[in-house]
Amino acid sequence: MKEQVEKIISLAKEELAKVEKEADVLNIKSKYIGKKSELNNLLSSLKEMSNEEKKEFGPFLNNKKKELEQLFNDKIVALEEKIDLNFDETIPCNVSLGSLHPVTIVAKEVTDILNRMGFTVLKGFEMEDDYHNFEALNIPKDHPARDMQDTYYLDNKKLLRTQTSGDQVHAMENYGVPLRVCSPGRVFRNEDIDASHENTFFQLEGMVIDKNIKIENMFYVMREVLKEVFKTDVKVRLRPGFFPFTEPSFEMDMNCLICGGKGCPTCKNSGWIELIPGGMVHPNVLKMSGVDPNEYTGFAFGIGLTRLAMMKYKINDIRYLNSGDLRVLDEFEIE
Ligand code: DAH
Repeated sequence: MKEQVEKIISLAKEELAKVEKEADVLNIKSKYIGKKSELNNLLSSLKEMSNEEKKEFGPFLNNKKKELEQLFNDKIVALEEKIDLNFDETIPCNVSLGSLHPVTIVAKEVTDILNRMGFTVLKGFEMEDDYHNFEALNIPKDHPARDMQDTYYLDNKKLLRTQTSGDQVHAMENYGVPLRVCSPGRVFRNEDIDASHENTFFQLEGMVIDKNIKIENMFYVMREVLKEVFKTDVKVRLRPGFFPFTEPSFEMDMNCLICGGKGCPTCKNSGWIELIPGGMVHPNVLKMSGVDPNEYTGFAFGIGLTRLAMMKYKINDIRYLNSGDLRVLDEFEIE
């Protein structure tokens, strides 16, 4: 029997030496030590042997089976070690890269330049209270200016802010004066939607309060902001405006870049786009936030970031910007 087993082992070794694949090793393994193998049959025949024989052949057969098992396992390890490790960085890639939203880009450009001029960038609240959105801005309950901003009122007595101007009030309350802050953010109005009106859009509020602040300081800031965003001197004009929280109030308009000033639906055929309203902060607003208007003056302005993005990227319909359609956004050349 011992000879028979040695023969099995040498045959197994011979076969093993010829193969190079793990699957082949496993086949040989099952042939030599599997259930139906010759060696297994010999092991089964132990049952019929005498105790003497069992003592002699039992350990022998088991040891030989272990020896063979070790041979197969060693071969598998050797084959695994032989696998060449190559590196190839050319993984096919069909994932398109995202880009920033046009409004995000202009918001960043505006806050960057204001930041360089010493403005702190703040973040206000989309869910606001009546006091900060209206009252503290000199717009009491029955003021007709409330009609200009159709408001979404919430069940919890709060509202979705209609303007970022309330952040002026938060800033004065939280930081006192002197003050130089700006606050970009989303605002909401219950508007009928068309090419230039959306119920959700973006503004940026700016405010400077100090001693001896003049309106000319505001015009300078506005012009620098537009230069930064459009990378060139853009044609602007100034008109008197009306806002309850500034006195005097102005509107800085910009030549419509969609039609070059000829007139189009985006500029309501006027050739001009209202871009930056602002003015000297009304003494009532200062007083309500605990600032003495005899000692401090200041200016505030509100930039229509959504409109600014439309002008910069020549987007003629505001609805594209909120559509969330990446195919649309991909069309804008954004550096
Ligand atoms: N919040 C105003 C609006 O949404 C814009 C505005 C006007 C902001 C004058 C100002 C300002 O800070 O001084 O129509």
